[in-house]
Amino acid sequence: MDPVLYNDWHPVARSSQIAAGAMLAADLLETRVVLWRDSGGALHAWEDRCPHRGTRLSMGTLQDDTLRCPYHGWAFGKEGRCTHIPALPNAPLKAQVAVYHVQERYGMAWVCLGEPAHAGPPAFPEFADGLLRKVWCGPYDVQSSAPRIVENFLDMAHFAFVHEGILGDKQQPVVPDYTVETFDDAEYGSGVWAKQCHAWQPQASRSATGGSDIEYTYRVVRPLSTILTKHPPGAIREAIALFSQPLTETSTRVWIIMALNDFVSSEGSMREFQDTIFLQDKPILESQHPARLPLAPGAEVSVLCDRMSLAYRSYLKQQDLHYGVIR
Ligand code: FES
Ligand code: CO
Repeated sequence: MDPVLYNDWHPVARSSQIAAGAMLAADLLETRVVLWRDSGGALHAWEDRCPHRGTRLSMGTLQDDTLRCPYHGWAFGKEGRCTHIPALPNAPLKAQVAVYHVQERYGMAWVCLGEPAHAGPPAFPEFADGLLRKVWCGPYDVQSSAPRIVENFLDMAHFAFVHEGILGDKQQPVVPDYTVETFDDAEYGSGVWAKQCHAWQPQASRSATGGSDIEYTYRVVRPLSTILTKHPPGAIREAIALFSQPLTETSTRVWIIMALNDFVSSEGSMREFQDTIFLQDKPILESQHPARLPLAPGAEVSVLCDRMSLAYRSYLKQQDLHYGVIR
């Protein structure tokens, strides 16, 4: 397993999906995870696999902070230790379920399967801004690698073709030059960002009324996480975070959180807008071959306006990522 991802935090569910006393099964990096919330409200993440015969614990029951396997009824307490074996009540209780690190942030449950290399999920300071409304979109399941999906999120040259009439205009396909830099910042964390990115957009957001020139800043904040901020004309502010839940090397669940000061549009219509955009990207992403992102400079042909994509590829190489890429 790739230590970079194994020791990083990944989103696996919305917090609101798991009520006290409830369980939820999730997949992460080819590992089955069961999330469950105890009576005190604390969230737990375990391997979703009974140590007795490998059954999914999430198919069992959760009662009095005890998970009971559906197969032979073995019971497991808060720390993942077996507390009861119904078929042999005096048997030594040696069985232990693998327990993972879990925390809740940005309204989501984040899991680290290994030993956390970071204190928590990537920085997303716009989320803490009380003047911005938060809208959760997706999740979107894509049959592609998370790095292909992140790279697509950073790509502006596809707007005029894939998102024609919304984020782009076929009559204006040229991508003006922009700046790419690495950054290390107390507020934003570290990574690589692209600034002064400009695009003419017929319908830049749900609330836009007509076309406008939008300035974007893209920042890559972890190997599989990226945040864009838009600087539309006027007093509108908008940040969109894309967080990946890698299921396998070539299948990914994508979570998008918007932080924006549009308090007029309905939440449903804003989600619908994001769904439309993402569902336009999905078939393109699923058609890309190979599904893993090639990191060698000559593996695919690039032009100058692909500079941010190339910077992202170098960043992945420098982060020593192996999963979902071809080195
Ligand atoms: Fe879980 Fe037997 S497989 S109790
Ligand atoms: Co797109």
